[in-house]
Order: sequence, then structure tokens, then C-alpha cells
Amino acid sequence: FYCSAEAKTVVIGLAADSGCGKSTFMRRLTSVFGGAAEPPKGGNPDSNTLISDTTTVICLDDYHSLDRTGRKEKGVTALDPRANNFDLMYEQVKALKEGVSVDKPIYNHVTGLLDPPELIQPPKILVIEGLHPMYDPRVRDLLDFSIYLDISNEVKFAWKIQRDMAERGHSLESIKASIEARKPDFDGYIDPQKQHADAVIEVLPTQLIPDDDEGKVLRVRLIMKEGSKYFTPVYLFDEGSTISWIPCGRKLTCSFPGIKFFYGPDTYFSHEVSVLEMDGQFDRLDELIYVESHLSNISTKFYGEVTQQMLKHSDFPGSNNGTGLFQTIVGLKIRDLYEQIVAEKAAAPAEAAKV
Ligand code: ADP
Ligand code: G6P
Repeated sequence: FYCSAEAKTVVIGLAADSGCGKSTFMRRLTSVFGGAAEPPKGGNPDSNTLISDTTTVICLDDYHSLDRTGRKEKGVTALDPRANNFDLMYEQVKALKEGVSVDKPIYNHVTGLLDPPELIQPPKILVIEGLHPMYDPRVRDLLDFSIYLDISNEVKFAWKIQRDMAERGHSLESIKASIEARKPDFDGYIDPQKQHADAVIEVLPTQLIPDDDEGKVLRVRLIMKEGSKYFTPVYLFDEGSTISWIPCGRKLTCSFPGIKFFYGPDTYFSHEVSVLEMDGQFDRLDELIYVESHLSNISTKFYGEVTQQMLKHSDFPGSNNGTGLFQTIVGLKIRDLYEQIVAEKAAAPAEAAKV
């Protein structure tokens, strides 16, 4: 019988530090899959899980083995592997991938305690997002695709200030201190995961304004690993060549400091990669169609789908720059990857029957 093979879940890993845009990315991704993901109905209101028809997003904070008090007592941060239960993470992601439901713990971000578990059914697409999706080699091997959101320190700082000062009333000093305190563990345990990612979205300060330190205008790089079975890198104009492109002019309105694209081959942690880069921001989102029409391998189902997605979510952070654009494109690439895997599985029983 083939039923378990057909039921197999496609597993996607999304790694980033907290406050680096994972939830925004998830909203773009689930929208591409045709429906917003919602918290489970009738469950724990502090659940971190999001569920849509096709996709379940689980937050890896749920695998904290030490709660807030436990971390304080032992003097370890949430970034430290010793505060996380990788055995359980592996067992449960493996079970879901094989079509078996699990009772997943819930880390309650409000109380800092571990709440009673919630039942997670195997979805078509499982996204595991958080600090460590690619840390444990056993979990990493279960991933069909992995993404690392690499936010440079300058930009991370600007975003944190925006959120923690404006919305949470923290002081500038306390934000600086909390970033500094996290840094050694971030460098030790989180950042190294990017070498394993199939796609990295790097967010840097602009190079269009000399000595910019505002962190408003961004230079964003989409680093795509070559040679993946279900993932073919996006390219600009001509595959494999090196291109610098300033699209501003008759068809694209650009105010200061303008927009600059770059595309070309590179190496990243000794892997061959293609890099697509956008520096600057769009004035008019509907004109994005002009840029979209020059990109290839973007896995759209119709002309203008990237622009349509960007317009639909123009209120999300990063919609006028490369963060929104590349998150949307990666979402389309993941849909494509999912469809390829499903098509291959549909063909597999026939192959097996021949034996
Ligand atoms: P996470 O889920 O990783 O904690 P969020 O998606 O909630 O991160 O984003 C946290 C904050 O970071 C947002 O409220 C916003 O202020 C800022 N942010 C996230 N993505 C972007 C972006 N692309 N451009 C500008 N600010 C962003
Ligand atoms: C979660 C987040 C971490 C954050 C932690 C708070 O686990 O993913 O990024 O640091 O909560 O930890 P604290 O020990 O300050 O409660």
C-alpha cells in the first residue's frame, strides 16, 4: 500500500533571530498558498501555531526545555541549545513528516512557562520557524527547503528600536543592552545556520546614501544555492551573467536615492550560489511589474503575480523594498517546490507497482 508515501508532509525551515521579520514572511508565504493562516480554533489562546488549509507554521520556541525561570536560574538564554529539546523537536517533526499527529508543547510567551501540549495534525506543508531549525543535523535532514533571514546588526537595531521603543516603551539603552547580551549566543548558535540554508535573505544598510545610519533604505540580497533538485535560482535578464541595473527612468518612478539591482554568480560558504540584489525602494508599487517582467524563474502562475501579491499586502513591513519582494519570490519558489514534490510522489506508486 502507498498511503503513507502519499501523505508525506513537505517540511520548510525558516531561521532568524526574533524580531527579524519571520512572522511577516510567514504571512506572505501563506498568502501565496492561497489563504491566511490563523491560530488553532478553540485551543490555548497563547498557542504560537498558525494553521491554514495547506500549511501549518510551528514556532520552535515551543521546544524550549527550560522556561523563563529555568533559563534565569541556569544563566542561559533562549538561543542556547541547552535551553531547547532537540530530541523532541526531531521526533515530532519526523512524525509529522511521516503523516503522524503529535502532541506538541506550547511555550507561553506571556507567562514564560510551558503550557500543556496541543495536538498538531500532519499538514501538506509544515513550516518550522524560529531560532534553530537548521541547528540539529537530524532536524536539518528532514527539511525539504530552508531559509535564513540574515538581518545585519545596523538594521536589526533600527527595527528593534522602532518596535520596542514605540510599541513596548523600552529605553534606547535597554534595547542596546539586550542586543549586546544576546550577541555571543547569536554568533555561536544562530548565525552559523545560514551556511546550511538553500536561500538566504540578507538585509543591509543602503549603499546609495553615503554613511547612512538610519536603516530606512535597505540593500537586500537574495542568495540562492545552485544545484538543488526542486529549486532553480531566479535570474535577471540572462542566466549566469553579471548585471548591474538601474531601472529608474521612463517606466519606473524613482525619487532619491533611486533603485539599483545587481545579479550574478558568487560563492557562499564554499557553495555555488546566484545572488540577486536590490538596493533602494519603490515609489509606486504598481510599477513593480516593470521589474518583474525582467526577472525569470520566479515560479509565477500568471504574468504579474509577484506584483499582485506585493500590492495585496502593501501594508506589511518591507513592501516597498527588497525584503518584501524577495520574501514574495521565495514564497512562489516554495509553492513550486511543493508542487514538484507532490507530482513526483503521485508518479511514484506506479513506479513501485512495476517492481
Ligand atoms: P519576528 O516574527 O521575527 O519576531 P516580525 O515579522 O514580527 O518578526 O517583525 C518584527 C518587527 O520588525 C516588525 O514589527 C517591524 O517593525 C520590523 N520589520 C520586520 N520586517 C521588516 C521589514 N521588511 N522592513 C522593515 N521593518 C520590518
Ligand atoms: C523567546 C524568543 C527569544 C527571546 C525569549 C525571551 O524564546 O524566541 O528570542 O529571547 O523568548 O527570553 P527571556 O529569557 O527574556 O524570557
